[in-house]
Amino acid sequence: MGDWCLSLALNVNVIREDFPLIKDRKIVYLDNAATTQKPIQVINAISNYYMKFNANIHRGLYELSQEASKLYEEAHGVVAKFINAGSWEEVVFTRNATEGINILAQALVNRYLKPGDEVVISIMEHHSNMLPWIRLSETYGVKVKVVGIDSDGLLDYDELSNVLTPRTKVVSITHASNVLGTLNDVRRIAKLGHEVDALVVVDGAQSVPHLPVNVRELDVDFMVFSGHKMLGPTGIGVLWGRKDLLEDLPPVLQGGDMIKYVGIEVKGGVLINHRIIYNDLPWKFEAGTPNIAGGIGLAEAVNYLIRLGMEEVRAHEVELTRYALRRLDETLKDDIKILGPKHPELRSGLISIAFKGINPHVVASLMSTKNIAVRSGYHCAQPLHEYLGVYDGTLRASFYIYNDVDDINAFISSLEEVINVLSK
Ligand SMILES: Cc1ncc(COP(=O)(O)O)c(C=O)c1O
Repeated sequence: MGDWCLSLALNVNVIREDFPLIKDRKIVYLDNAATTQKPIQVINAISNYYMKFNANIHRGLYELSQEASKLYEEAHGVVAKFINAGSWEEVVFTRNATEGINILAQALVNRYLKPGDEVVISIMEHHSNMLPWIRLSETYGVKVKVVGIDSDGLLDYDELSNVLTPRTKVVSITHASNVLGTLNDVRRIAKLGHEVDALVVVDGAQSVPHLPVNVRELDVDFMVFSGHKMLGPTGIGVLWGRKDLLEDLPPVLQGGDMIKYVGIEVKGGVLINHRIIYNDLPWKFEAGTPNIAGGIGLAEAVNYLIRLGMEEVRAHEVELTRYALRRLDETLKDDIKILGPKHPELRSGLISIAFKGINPHVVASLMSTKNIAVRSGYHCAQPLHEYLGVYDGTLRASFYIYNDVDDINAFISSLEEVINVLSK
């Protein structure tokens, strides 16, 4: 520890002041891959909306409704700019990343996919980017191919290249693994996918909060992510898609606000004809009253991240990860196995640990007695754990903008202590 000279890109002491739940440092919060804490700016934006602007959007000609509509629409614009989308209409608000992939998978099968068509995913996917495609294989005869990883936890790009065929219609892969930390080369994946005319879908749940993401530069077709993993509230997420593709896809959820016109013809009490004109983007995919406060809160969270700078956020996490990896190697090398790539530049700011003969749930609950919040289990990636032969699950510590060396030192000391106790 002594010769370590760490220079963090973010001023954690200043940032912490914005986070009511952790500013007193009573909790060492290292479960950011599950959800992040919320800054006061986001909390205030949500309560401000309810106190001053609460009304349903798009339905009232009165001022409150118009104000609420404006704030909600502008929130789409803030998110669009953050990921460099072609326009704000390409940003569909969903409940979370999970809902985004489900809506997309259903829309794609309703429009393009036929039995025997292929969807390519990877073994490192979160269940959210696995189960919706498996469902299509059960119900529509779509074939799901699963690409493996190498011994370093990196995607096997040769295998990816080999499994692609003219029948591959979708390649859906995570940008950053929530277990291995592996950052996938999305541009390379997009290039390979597009060579066979497949649509390229990216699960950005663990990348958009942590590094600069530019959907046009990555040259992908769709991306999903969740607001709550990037300082925003729960219940709001994003499905981004290229405008021409979203325009062509049918809506999945039906109801209010997603249509411009509905006319029905009824004869003898039975519907015999109908005509529906769908609403413009993004409303076509946002049926029913949306999470207006959530959208406004997410925009505030994005603005917070923009003020910090995403390059700085990434640099901060790389340094913390580098420090944590080295300290773990110095102190616990013989007791633990760290999953994923060795180099911090190749991974996001999280570390998952497998133990020999120690259950990670026991470790996490003992650490919680020291107010250290980490996650244990399969992290919604059970097939990955089975693939790696890690049947008890792992312990995961995940970092964010308000974490510093003290948090990592507390985590590692506590881990050492717990391992000592449990190994006796
Ligand atoms: C890589 C990845 N994808 C998708 C999800 C799903 O996110 P949500 O539960 O917010 O829908 C998560 C959540 O942990 C994740 O880590």
